[in-house]
This record gives sequence, C-alpha cells and structure tokens, in this order.
Amino acid sequence: MKMWHGRIDAPAANLFEAFTSSVVQDRRLAPYDVQVSMAHARALQRAGLISPADADTLDHALGEIASEIDADTFAWHDELEDVHTHVEVRLREKVGAVADVLHAGRSRNDQVAADLRLYVKDRTRDALGAILDLQTSLVGLAAKYADAVMPGYTHLQQAQPLLIAQPLLAYAAMLERDWERFKDHLARVNRSPLGSGALAGSTFPLDRSFLAEQLGFGGVIANSLDAVSDRDFVVEFVTTAALCMTHLSRLSEDLVLWSSVEFGLIRLPDAFSSGSSMMPQKKNPDVAELVRGKAALVIGDATGVLALVKGIPLGYNRDLQENTTPLYHASDSLLGSLSILAVMLPEIEFDTARAESAISGFAYATDLADLLVEGGMPFREAHAVVGRIVSYCLERGRDLTDLTLAELQAAVPWVQELPEWTASASVRRKRTAGSTHPDAVAEGLRAARAAIDEHRAWLAAGI
Ligand code: ARG
Repeated sequence: MKMWHGRIDAPAANLFEAFTSSVVQDRRLAPYDVQVSMAHARALQRAGLISPADADTLDHALGEIASEIDADTFAWHDELEDVHTHVEVRLREKVGAVADVLHAGRSRNDQVAADLRLYVKDRTRDALGAILDLQTSLVGLAAKYADAVMPGYTHLQQAQPLLIAQPLLAYAAMLERDWERFKDHLARVNRSPLGSGALAGSTFPLDRSFLAEQLGFGGVIANSLDAVSDRDFVVEFVTTAALCMTHLSRLSEDLVLWSSVEFGLIRLPDAFSSGSSMMPQKKNPDVAELVRGKAALVIGDATGVLALVKGIPLGYNRDLQENTTPLYHASDSLLGSLSILAVMLPEIEFDTARAESAISGFAYATDLADLLVEGGMPFREAHAVVGRIVSYCLERGRDLTDLTLAELQAAVPWVQELPEWTASASVRRKRTAGSTHPDAVAEGLRAARAAIDEHRAWLAAGI
C-alpha cells in the first residue's frame, strides 16, 4: 500500500514505479534516514504527541533497523519507491500500529533534505581529511628533495630554475584553499531543515533546536520553505569538489609531463603504473590520466547540479531527486583521487641529476639582467642588452653559460666577472618571501606543516 493511498488508489503503472524510484540511489542515505526518524520520534514525545513508551518502542526498533542496514541484511524492494518508505514499512513490520504515529509533523521533503545534509557533512569531513593526507605527501616529497633543482616553466617553455619543492608546495597551497572552502561549506551544510514539514512548518509544537541537536547539526534553517527546497549545500560540495579536482588534474598533467622520456624528471612507482599489451618499453601514468579524466566529469557534475536547481519554482520539486547521481559521482571521484595520489606521491622518485642538467643556460638570462640592474643599469636597457646577448649565442649555436668574460664585456664594458651560472646560485639570488630561495622554501615547508597540524587538530575536535 502506498503512503498516499486514500487519495490515489489505482495501482501505479510499473513504468511509473521504475521511473520514479530512488531506491538504488537512496541506499547510501539509509543510515541517516534512520537517525532522522529517531530524532523525530523523540521530538514527537517532547511535543506530547506520543507517549514515552511509544517513543522508546520506536527508538528501539529503529536501532535494530540501523543494525540491519549496517550488516547489509536490510531487505530492499524495488517497488518501495524510496528509503523513507523502506524504513517506515520495516518499522511497521517490527512494531505494528505504533509505527503509524511517526510521520506526524514531517514530510519526506524535510526528511530527504536532512538525510542529504548529514551525508554531505560526512563526505565533507572525509574530503577535509583526504586533502590533509595529500598535502602531507606533497610536503614530505618537497622536504625529501629540499636541495634539488629543476627547470621552471611558463608557457611550458623553460623560464627560470626552481627548487623541486617549489611546484610541490604550490600544489599544497592550492589544496590549502580547497581545505578552507570545504571548511566554510561545512558550517553551512551543518544546519537542520527538520520541523519544516512539507513546506509550511508543522502544526505540532516540534522543538526544531532539539531536533537539530540530536543529529549533531549546529543550528536550524530558519525559513521552512527554504529548508525543504534548498540544495545550495549540494551545489557547494560539488562545485568545491570540481575546483579541487581541477587542481588535482593540473598536478596530474605535470606528473604525466614530468614522467615522459622527453622531460625525464620523475620515475613513477611500478605499483601505480601499467605497461602496454604490445609495446614492451611502455610505462604509463594511468593514475594521473584517470584523475585528469575524472576531473572532467566532476566539472560536468557541477554543471548538472547548478542546472538542476536553476529553473525550479519554490518548494520541493521531484527534479531534486536527480541530485544524488552527480553528488555521489563527485564525492567518489574526489575522495578516490585524493587518496590514491596521497599514497602514490611518496613513491615518486625525482631524477635530480637529470632535473638539474635539464636546465638550459638561457634560464639564467633574467638573473643576468638583474645583475646588470644591480650594477646600475635600468631594467629595460638590461633586458634589451641580455636579449641581444641571447640572440648572439643562439646565432652561434652556443649557450648563455658558454659566454666568455670578453664577450660579455663587449656588450657591457663595466662588468668585472662572469656570473655564477648554476641553478643553486640562481635560486639563492632570490630574496622575496615565498620565492624559490632555499630559506623561503624552508619557511614554506614549515608553514605548510604547521597548517596541516592545526587543521588535523580542528578536524579531530569535530563540529
Ligand atoms: N526520493 C525523494 C528525493 O530524493 C524524496 C522526497 C520525495 N518527496 C516527494 N514529495 N515525493 O527527493
């Protein structure tokens, strides 16, 4: 029998049932749905609508249902439409008519909004933890190669020498912003819609703060209509995941490039690479490629959830049921990508000799211009002088670092000695905070570690 028998008594068409069912998607919501029902039973008791004995009976039976769900012995039936119906039907099997009092003052609209918020809250906490794990791996790798250098790129053309730690800490910094976004989001998702009924609130004096507290929510969503129809928290989670995946995709792209024969900067661990069925020499960066691919689909998830809410009139609309597909896909992709990168990264080996020798002499051109500025030349002039020296070298098939003092003095007579053309000297010339100077990088490492520790403590304290 349907929940709405009385109003609609004709049997539903099979096609209708299959098309409208959310049973498959709702399985993940089941543990939350049971918690929400337990909280509601106690709120009904407090409002004097059900006796303490009935509330105890409901609470006990719901606890058993929670165990069944946990143990995967809970029976799912395609024709029972959604998780709310499943829990109610099972409750009636267990306690009989007492189950019929539970739905007073609530609707599946505020139930599903609460279930989803609890689900998103848990996944957000998972994401926060997984981001910290990946940051820890990035920082660990940066510390391991603290003295090593590599070419730095702009436009994927060699630009200036960098410490290997510099790009690794740059990715840790992107993840730091993702962490902050998820943390901010957590405060907004952590609000209870319960007590809003279908849209207008409840006739019964349900204590909304009590409902919220029982479920660990930090407060309530004030407006009942907003409470049942708002899915901003899904949009926020998925768009934040999309941006985080975008960062992981850029990291992956660098791993793909760096591990190529042409770059030869890193060796990927065998345990995280595949070969070719035909070409015996191949070692492919599968993990990085799949993260890059998953990022594309999570961007699609973000577009999907935004489009889902943009055109619906106020109040609950069934369209919203579709939001679990992009939500689950985005959270699985994000957590899977963060976790595998966190485990794989510490296994990556940089070929430090190759990384240093890959730095072209022309990567010191800016350092030379800066030296001329230190000698009193205006920068524009220094840039033009060094530009002419670069052309002079290129025309003769020579590197900037092959230049003799006499050749340099032909361009700039007052120069006394050749610069030290090494990557180590180059990075040491940098003086700004956050630069690739070893001291600045050491400070970056220290700050990143301190932030990770602070965030871990915050996460462990719970909200
Ligand atoms: N399965 C629905 C969803 O996920 C639950 C709410 C149904 N509400 C309703 N009025 N039909 O959105």
